[in-house]
Amino acid sequence: MDKMWAGRFEKALNKEADDFNSSIHFDSRMYKQDITGSIVHAKMLGDKGIITEDEKAQIINGLGGILEDIESGKLSFDMDAEDIHMFIESELTKRIGDAGKRLHTARSRNDQVALDIRLYLASECEEIGGLLLKLIEAIKDKANENTDAIMPGYTHLQRAQPITFAHHILTYAFMLKRDFDRINDAVGRMLSQCPIGSCALAGTTYDTDRRFEAEHLGFTGIALNSIDGVSDRDFCLELISDFSILMMHLSRFSEEIILWSSWEFKFVELDDSYTTGSSIMPQKKNSDMAELVRGKTGRVYGDLMALLTTLKGLPLAYNKDMQEDKEAIFDAVDTVKKCLSIFAPMVATMKVLKGNMYKAAGEGFINATDLADYLVKKGMPFRTAYKHVGEIVGYCIKNGFVLENLPLEKYKEFDPLFDEDLYEEISLETCVNKRISAGSTGPQSVKKQIEYITEFLNK
Ligand code: ARG
Repeated sequence: MDKMWAGRFEKALNKEADDFNSSIHFDSRMYKQDITGSIVHAKMLGDKGIITEDEKAQIINGLGGILEDIESGKLSFDMDAEDIHMFIESELTKRIGDAGKRLHTARSRNDQVALDIRLYLASECEEIGGLLLKLIEAIKDKANENTDAIMPGYTHLQRAQPITFAHHILTYAFMLKRDFDRINDAVGRMLSQCPIGSCALAGTTYDTDRRFEAEHLGFTGIALNSIDGVSDRDFCLELISDFSILMMHLSRFSEEIILWSSWEFKFVELDDSYTTGSSIMPQKKNSDMAELVRGKTGRVYGDLMALLTTLKGLPLAYNKDMQEDKEAIFDAVDTVKKCLSIFAPMVATMKVLKGNMYKAAGEGFINATDLADYLVKKGMPFRTAYKHVGEIVGYCIKNGFVLENLPLEKYKEFDPLFDEDLYEEISLETCVNKRISAGSTGPQSVKKQIEYITEFLNK
């Protein structure tokens, strides 16, 4: 394909250099945004009298035809083109002749590409948002089914205090809701600064209407500095940062699902349709999907590091280095979408083994804090009670007791404040049901949490 810029050169571009330079094999996915941007640009040029009404109509029809033909498969991308912008423009000119050559008036590929990525990301983020909501819903439903499932809550991966599975899993709903909000915030900021009309970097001598273009493309404002409009990719970085945090959350959740699925825990069982077997060990049921999500988290962090590093030394304004933004952000978007799509049904079909959780909760002295609180309620300062209970736990471990079955006489030897009612106070059910503070594992609090998430989902 002849280069549009060939006029200034005496020799053609070396074939390998041409391939190296070309981005069509990855930026062709922005064809729709490129065409949408060009249609609005042509409208503006026509309305401002920069091109004629007839040229405007020819361009808009021509672009509409190209879009239709790409979507129906009639037109395929020319992989020899330099990028999607050049491809569409030259296809337009092929179709409508001279009018097509007027489309690029008062713009440059620099502001064009800065626009296309923003439009593309806005649409992808909408999809990601939808997938996030589905996952949050699956978590909320799982929580709803398991408000009575008592399990050990952990700190340092040591059994710490009894909680309900509903309380535990809802944590991820809150994390993912913040991810949802963060992505929306970033999209809002991105769409407040429409770059088109910044042109190469310095703006233009034509009397254009940038606000018209911004408004018709779904932006709430324009980039107020044309150099800024074409030079920054901070919106890509912000989104990949948000995706990285989101992936970190999914990775932690994955790690727990993997642990819980092990024979050592057996708190949950993943559905056969989301697990795999081993090629050699017939007994194995592997949590491959969760492991892959955990693994792909590193890949998204890599995309963030790659783009941060690409941008850090660039002088203003556009540099070709910036073409590298796309593969990083596209990879992050694709990865997040795939992970979310697999995660929601994996959680929805996951079986919760309440009996095993309950058994584990009874084995680790996780009601020791409640035993100390028992003494505190009888008047003892907390620090003294804490020390007493520590000694009792030590005695139990040495002599093969748990707090629930240590005889009352023995308790009384440690402190006369102990009485028969202590057993009721340290039952797992009491430990959970008596937690009344806001946000706690107690049933009233968990109910409120579920209501909050439900309300968010209904909005
Ligand atoms: N393919 C290029 C990119 O992705 C489009 C912008 C090219 N601009 C330029 N001045 N060469 O960044």
